[in-house]
Amino acid sequence: MHRLALDLYEDHARSALTPEAHAYVSGGAGHGAGVARNQEAWRALLLEPALGRRLGALSAGVEILGRRYRFPCLVAPMAYQRLAHPEGERATALAAAAQGAGFVLSCQTSLPADQVAAEPFWFQLYLQPERAATRALVAAAVRAGAEALVVTMDAPLNGIRNAEIAAGFALPAGIRPVMLDGLPAAARSAVQDPIAGALAMAPDWAELAALCAEVSLPVLAKGVMSVASARAALAAGCAGVVVSNHGGRVLEGLPATAQVLAQIRAALPEALILADGGIRSGEDLFRALALGADAVLLGRPVFYALALGGAQGVSTCLRRLQDEFAVTMGLMGCETCAEITPERLYRPAFT
Ligand code: FNR
Ligand code: LAC
Repeated sequence: MHRLALDLYEDHARSALTPEAHAYVSGGAGHGAGVARNQEAWRALLLEPALGRRLGALSAGVEILGRRYRFPCLVAPMAYQRLAHPEGERATALAAAAQGAGFVLSCQTSLPADQVAAEPFWFQLYLQPERAATRALVAAAVRAGAEALVVTMDAPLNGIRNAEIAAGFALPAGIRPVMLDGLPAAARSAVQDPIAGALAMAPDWAELAALCAEVSLPVLAKGVMSVASARAALAAGCAGVVVSNHGGRVLEGLPATAQVLAQIRAALPEALILADGGIRSGEDLFRALALGADAVLLGRPVFYALALGGAQGVSTCLRRLQDEFAVTMGLMGCETCAEITPERLYRPAFT
């Protein structure tokens, strides 16, 4: 197993990123309480192994939207990966494919989709103020081979991230959201100015429904943190939801993903549900599945691994998570992901 646990990547990557970029990636809304809360909430869930089972061949594999993954993990959409490495999103996508994980390309990618997607990928979309602009983005993603769309509903504005503001982060010359290049000026100015014009980009359920009706790809809604939002997304025609507080980057006061996941699963037993925010170990991944996620998205550790070692670095990081997850499954008495149920979470006998 590789020596570096996922939660140690942030510190190791300090020397590989500028202080400004490090503040951008690591930061959360406000002083970052939401970032810490995400990680603490997974760790607070204790485990209850099924002892005494003779396990055959362990399989961590899952099928999601018709594609097989070696373990239930996709790389989360993260903007501007060339901040970390010249190969940017291309290196991350390559590593994800090598490890049998999924890859979600950010709408604010620093490389165009057709230069990234040697492998199957999903495209994360911010709905644009003009439908034609949204459709142009979707068309570019489809041309490059996107297999699903992830529409981010929770970030019509950037969160106020104190550490990033204090560090004075700005995009360096040569790094920009290239997929937005050809789009109408309204969309571009909205990206540059966090308030003026940006609220015009705020997606509503009707716009999401129109998109779902129009595209042949499955659509997932990202940023869902309540049963009501999850129901609204599915009613709009989504194939699934990503339970996410954007890694604590938009509002500091949102609950942790681990605090809302079980109730969303209970309300929607058949839905495709992914989750992200603060996954830093194989045990965390196991906990997310036990609470009802079908798979998780992994964010910041991938960005740091990219800064440390390009595609090789990301590959190593994903492999570590996969290995930890397999060990956890074995110790917990679970042969397949389907066997990771709520019963595997410890409930104190006396409360
Ligand atoms: C993000 N995230 C994000 N989400 C999204 O929908 N579109 C985007 O462009 C970005 N960009 C982005 C950049 C950076 C640097 C980070 C750290 C995050 C949020 C991301 O998809 C995911 O929800 C969280 O990062 C998951 O939490 P962890 O694993 O980073 O704790
Ligand atoms: C962020 C935006 C790009 O979290 O989603 O930085």
